[in-house]
Amino acid sequence: MSQSNTPRPEENSLMSKVISHAKEYGFVFPSSDIYDGLQAVYDYGQNGVELKNNLKTLWWKTMTQLHEQVVGIDASIFMHPLTWKASGHVDGFNDPMVDNKDSKKRYRVDHLLEEYAFRLELEGETQRAEDVLAEMNKLLGANDLKGLQEFIIKEKITCPVSGTANWTEVRQFNLMFSTQVGSVADESSTIYLRPETAQGIFVNFLNVQKTGRMKVPFGIAQIGKAFRNEIVARQFIFRMREFEQMEMQFFVRPGEEMKWYEQWKAQRMKWHQILGIPADSLKYHDHEKLAHYANAAVDIEFKFPFGFKEIEGIHSRTDFDLRNHQELSRKKLQYFDPEINQNYIPYVIETSVGADRLFLMHLCHAYTEEISGEGEERKERTFLKLHPALAPVKAAIFPLTKKDGLPEKAREVMDLLKFDFNVIYEERDSIGKRYTRQDLIGTPFCIAVDYQSLEDNTVTIRHRDTTHQERVPIAQLRQHIGDEVSMSKILRELQTV
Ligand code: GAP
Repeated sequence: MSQSNTPRPEENSLMSKVISHAKEYGFVFPSSDIYDGLQAVYDYGQNGVELKNNLKTLWWKTMTQLHEQVVGIDASIFMHPLTWKASGHVDGFNDPMVDNKDSKKRYRVDHLLEEYAFRLELEGETQRAEDVLAEMNKLLGANDLKGLQEFIIKEKITCPVSGTANWTEVRQFNLMFSTQVGSVADESSTIYLRPETAQGIFVNFLNVQKTGRMKVPFGIAQIGKAFRNEIVARQFIFRMREFEQMEMQFFVRPGEEMKWYEQWKAQRMKWHQILGIPADSLKYHDHEKLAHYANAAVDIEFKFPFGFKEIEGIHSRTDFDLRNHQELSRKKLQYFDPEINQNYIPYVIETSVGADRLFLMHLCHAYTEEISGEGEERKERTFLKLHPALAPVKAAIFPLTKKDGLPEKAREVMDLLKFDFNVIYEERDSIGKRYTRQDLIGTPFCIAVDYQSLEDNTVTIRHRDTTHQERVPIAQLRQHIGDEVSMSKILRELQTV
């Protein structure tokens, strides 16, 4: 049974800690913070942007460097309005919503019912909880809005804010944001902020195929912003109104899609594991009810503090998108396959992962509270156990004191490393405090320059996860750090899968 969005108390506290940590240490801030934020919109701070960029770079390299037959593009956020007619978003990108008349709060009906089922389950009424979800799926599947409203009333579901069951009727609510182009605001000038990046790939299918002389099977990858007017926007950066997607459409010969679907499904799961997420924190969730355009679909879910939730979708989208674009644009979107001497509209396997959800997954997984020693020796430490290749800062360089030539020596070390790695220099406070600050942002290495360094050109490296320290010649630092933080190492591991 699917988990509710309501976290259990202990999970709630872990999530609250992650959220506070993200704000306090420069990872994620509420948007327009000085105006008390904007719901479901967030900014990435100085450490957050580095972590997110590392995730995006790794995804990009995986897609475009590891797969000779995958290339990247960067399409616009604004697209011709017919794009969204063809994709089905104008008519079908809706969620049934209901408003509580007393609290004036609006809810997604599926979230409200899932929450209710989850509470029943907590109270030991597992069978009833399952029945509620089964009925919900049936009504949603049949698009029966009246039935959904009657069901909410019959089950006496109340609004978490007002506590009343004074509901409006259930209505469809389109999740696309619209705006106007040009100076005249009328129907014809309405355009949408893209709700997915995929369509920018579909409309460029032939441009890329022709100019790159691509042969099916081939893929097009893209990273970019997407926008959805999420009504129930909760759980921090898990569900945002402005977010970033990393999508890849893989164009294949019709009839061969299931083979590729299985391959991409396995590869994407492995990718998350190689980046340090344990296998038992990830699982596949097959879609029971397929979207009208899909003949197979699976989510990869991660065990967040609020339950297993989707981070990535792998969909076999048939020729739905290209066929509809061909129809509405009246441009042939076909491929001539010289091997079988046939023209066809390729089928598509899509892999689609949210950069922000990926970020949240790594932050939740990395957040570590450690207690060591006992009695007087007892120590508590909080650190981010991020994969070194993802860590925002790779090494921090500390002169032991601010005098006797140690800062100058530390600056030499900085100059040696800064062209290859994101490193920082720190000389304020005790060395212990400096270690703590780096632990909190997940810096894998701290390099201390001391009096011995002036004599023998060695430094002490402290390792974040073990706090183990070792003496290393300055001349070997680049190699030493490079081996651990290298993205190529990850790519090599992936290549062997
Ligand atoms: N092109 C297919 C597509 O857009 P989706 O399941 O709606 O499929 C794919 O979205 C991924 O985008 C999700 O797995 C999730 O990681 C991310 N995503 C979707 N909506 C999001 C939101 N409101 N906030 C953050 N990430 C979101």
